[in-house]
Amino acid sequence: MDLKSCKILVSSTSYGKNDPWLKTDLEKQVGEVIYNPYGKPLTSDQVRDLLPGIDGFIAGLDCIDRASLEKADKLRVIARYGVGLDGVDLVAAKERGIIVTNTPGANSSSVAELTIALMLILARQLNLAFSATKAGKWPRLAGISLEEKTIALVGLGSIGKEVAKRLKGFKCRILAFDLYPDENFAVSNGIQLAEMDYILSQADFVSLHVPLTAETKNLVNEHFIAKMKKGSYLINTARGELINEDALFIALQNGYLSGAGLDALSKEPPEPETPLLALSNVVSTPHLGSQSDGAVRRMGVMALQDCLAVLQGLPAVHPVNI
Ligand code: DGY
Repeated sequence: MDLKSCKILVSSTSYGKNDPWLKTDLEKQVGEVIYNPYGKPLTSDQVRDLLPGIDGFIAGLDCIDRASLEKADKLRVIARYGVGLDGVDLVAAKERGIIVTNTPGANSSSVAELTIALMLILARQLNLAFSATKAGKWPRLAGISLEEKTIALVGLGSIGKEVAKRLKGFKCRILAFDLYPDENFAVSNGIQLAEMDYILSQADFVSLHVPLTAETKNLVNEHFIAKMKKGSYLINTARGELINEDALFIALQNGYLSGAGLDALSKEPPEPETPLLALSNVVSTPHLGSQSDGAVRRMGVMALQDCLAVLQGLPAVHPVNI
C-alpha cells in the first residue's frame, strides 16, 4: 500500500512530545495524521467515532474494545505505544484482519526507576517531608532503609527484572514469583524464586509486575493482603485493576499495611477526592511509569516502525495477535 494514501490516528498525547521529529517523520511519510483531540486516553465511543477512514492507529491507553472497532472500515494495524495489551480486544482485531503490535522492553527501565522511587518515598516518608518543608515545618520524620529488607516481585518479566537489578544495589533480599520464571536470570542475580504465599509472607515490600488479564484482575484482594506481612508496603506500577481498591483501602486505613505506592488506578483519571488517594500513607502518580525521555522515544520509534511496516505489507517486528 502506498503510504501517501494512508491516514493515521495517533492517540498517545506523549507521542513525539520530547522528540518532535517523530511527528514530522510520520507526517512526511503518510497522507494524513490525526492527533487525539481529547488530551487523554480515548473511550470506546471516541475510538469508534475516530476510526472510519483510518489505516493505522498508534494507540496509547485507549479503550479499543469490540464495539470501538465496529466502524474500522480501513484499519490494518493497531501499533500499541507501550507494552500492556489489556485495553485492546485482540480477538476482535484479529477477526477484522487488524494486526496489533506493541513495544516490549521499551519502557522497562523507566517503570523500574519509578518503582524504586515509590519504594523510597514510602520508606522515608518523603511525601510528608516535602509538604512539611514547603509549609515551613522541619519535622525529623523517621523512616526505614531499603537495605536488608525483603522485596517480593510478583512477576519477573522485563520490568520485574529491571527492578531486581536496581534493588541489588540497595542490598535487598529479593524474592520473586513468576509462572514461567527465567531461572538463569534469577540465579545470576541472587533472586530466590518461590511460591506466591511464601514471598508475600516474607516481604517488606510487594511490587506488582504482571500484565492485566482475566486471571490477574483483582489479584490483590483481601485474601492476598491477609497473606502479606503486617506492616508491609504495596507498590503498583502495572495496572490498577490488579488491585481490589476497597480491600486495599481497608488494609491501609486500619494500619495492617504501612503504605502503598500507586502509579495505576482502576479508574484513570480517578474521581476527585477518591478516599484511597486521600490516605496519608498512599503516594500516587498519574500513570507516568513510562513517561521518561528514553522510554517515550523507544515506544515512539518502535510503534512508528511497526505501524508503517504493516501498512507497506512488511512483517511487523513485534506482532501480538498473529
Ligand atoms: C504500557 O507500556 O502499557 C504503559 O502502561 C504505557 O503505555
